Amino acid sequence: MNSKYSPIFQPFTLKNGITLKNRMVMAPMTNFSSNQDDTVSDAEVKYYARRSAGVGMVITACTYVTANGKGFHGEFGGDRDEFIPSLKRLASAIKEQGAKAILQIFHGGRQVPPELVNGDVVSASSIPAEGEGKPVPRELSEQEVEAIIRDFGETTRRAIESGYDGVEIHGANGYLIQQFFSPHSNRRDDRWGGSLDKRLNFPLAVVDEVKSVAAKYANDSFIIGYRFSPEEPETPGITMADTLYLIDALSEKDLDYLHVSLMDFWSTPRRGIDDTRSRIEIIQERVGSHVPVIGVGSIRTADEALKALETGIPLLALGREIIMDPDWVQKIAEGKENEIITKIDKTKQHELVVPDPLWQAIIHTPGWFPGV
Ligand SMILES: Cc1cc2nc3c(=O)[nH]c(=O)nc-3n(C[C@H](O)[C@H](O)[C@H](O)COP(=O)(O)O)c2cc1C
Repeated sequence: MNSKYSPIFQPFTLKNGITLKNRMVMAPMTNFSSNQDDTVSDAEVKYYARRSAGVGMVITACTYVTANGKGFHGEFGGDRDEFIPSLKRLASAIKEQGAKAILQIFHGGRQVPPELVNGDVVSASSIPAEGEGKPVPRELSEQEVEAIIRDFGETTRRAIESGYDGVEIHGANGYLIQQFFSPHSNRRDDRWGGSLDKRLNFPLAVVDEVKSVAAKYANDSFIIGYRFSPEEPETPGITMADTLYLIDALSEKDLDYLHVSLMDFWSTPRRGIDDTRSRIEIIQERVGSHVPVIGVGSIRTADEALKALETGIPLLALGREIIMDPDWVQKIAEGKENEIITKIDKTKQHELVVPDPLWQAIIHTPGWFPGV
């Protein structure tokens, strides 16, 4: 290995004492490839096993915690105990290759395709997402809100029973948890909405529930992370100032990490604060001394990873990059960083061990992956 890349391979110890063998993480990525009965498929197991040897930690695709939270065709289920053997297969496949296995837990809210939930699309309020033809969601009752919070806890218990090293609470990308925090989707005036503080109540209640379940069923080494998106384009919508308020509150929750969902690691704030630095640097300065931050977004090469680590962000996630090159981390370790593949080669599906539905999505979505 070229010694200048040694920072990428420094082990990192989380607050709970768990040590990750290096600074690279596989980002959570939906693959649309589970079985018809929502169990994890053989193709998914192979896809994860192929990508779990280099990184220190793998965050799985999201799994729904409540039946009406299923957000994608071919998403595996986590809302019932009968899924425990399926969840276990995935955890084992990841851990056997040497990475920590983290289950991403989720509810899609107003973004679920209606046909996956018998038309019962729900959200904080009955406000559709922006865009043509988006369904008008049904506003959740207070009782339903409380039930979904418990569902996040129940799926955490299943993750523990299935052998995961931790869970990541999916509070990003415009799904239900973010819908409660957003002034666009949350127009409630009960204790779950009406002011910035009240819009925080649902995310924080989910965190508290997940933590209390982990305290009951797992040992202290169970990892709990939280993923969020720093801003929303809509008006009204989450601003950078709102995000700082959210992460101040999250950083008091003794989480093991915060994961900033971005397509570009270096993107800058849209509005809300007067600061020209990148969002990730602002976030790291604000909470980095309390809770480790994971950065992500178009980190394509060894030099780009090194530059990103120089900001002080301790952990970096690879999304599309580790689909395009499952040996991304190993190539740097072996001094072959110039051989990292940074474009999709449309002839290499089988060599790359990518399940059909994910491959079809990749090659038919222009601009999503380099080379397509
Ligand atoms: C195929 C695909 C599926 C994704 N699914 C999820 C998901 O289930 N949960 C999530 O939090 N982010 C998801 N993302 C976002 C990624 O985790 C990541 O933030 C994004 O791809 C930017 O990182 P990259 O530039 O390294 O790809 C997905 C991205 C891709 C490309």
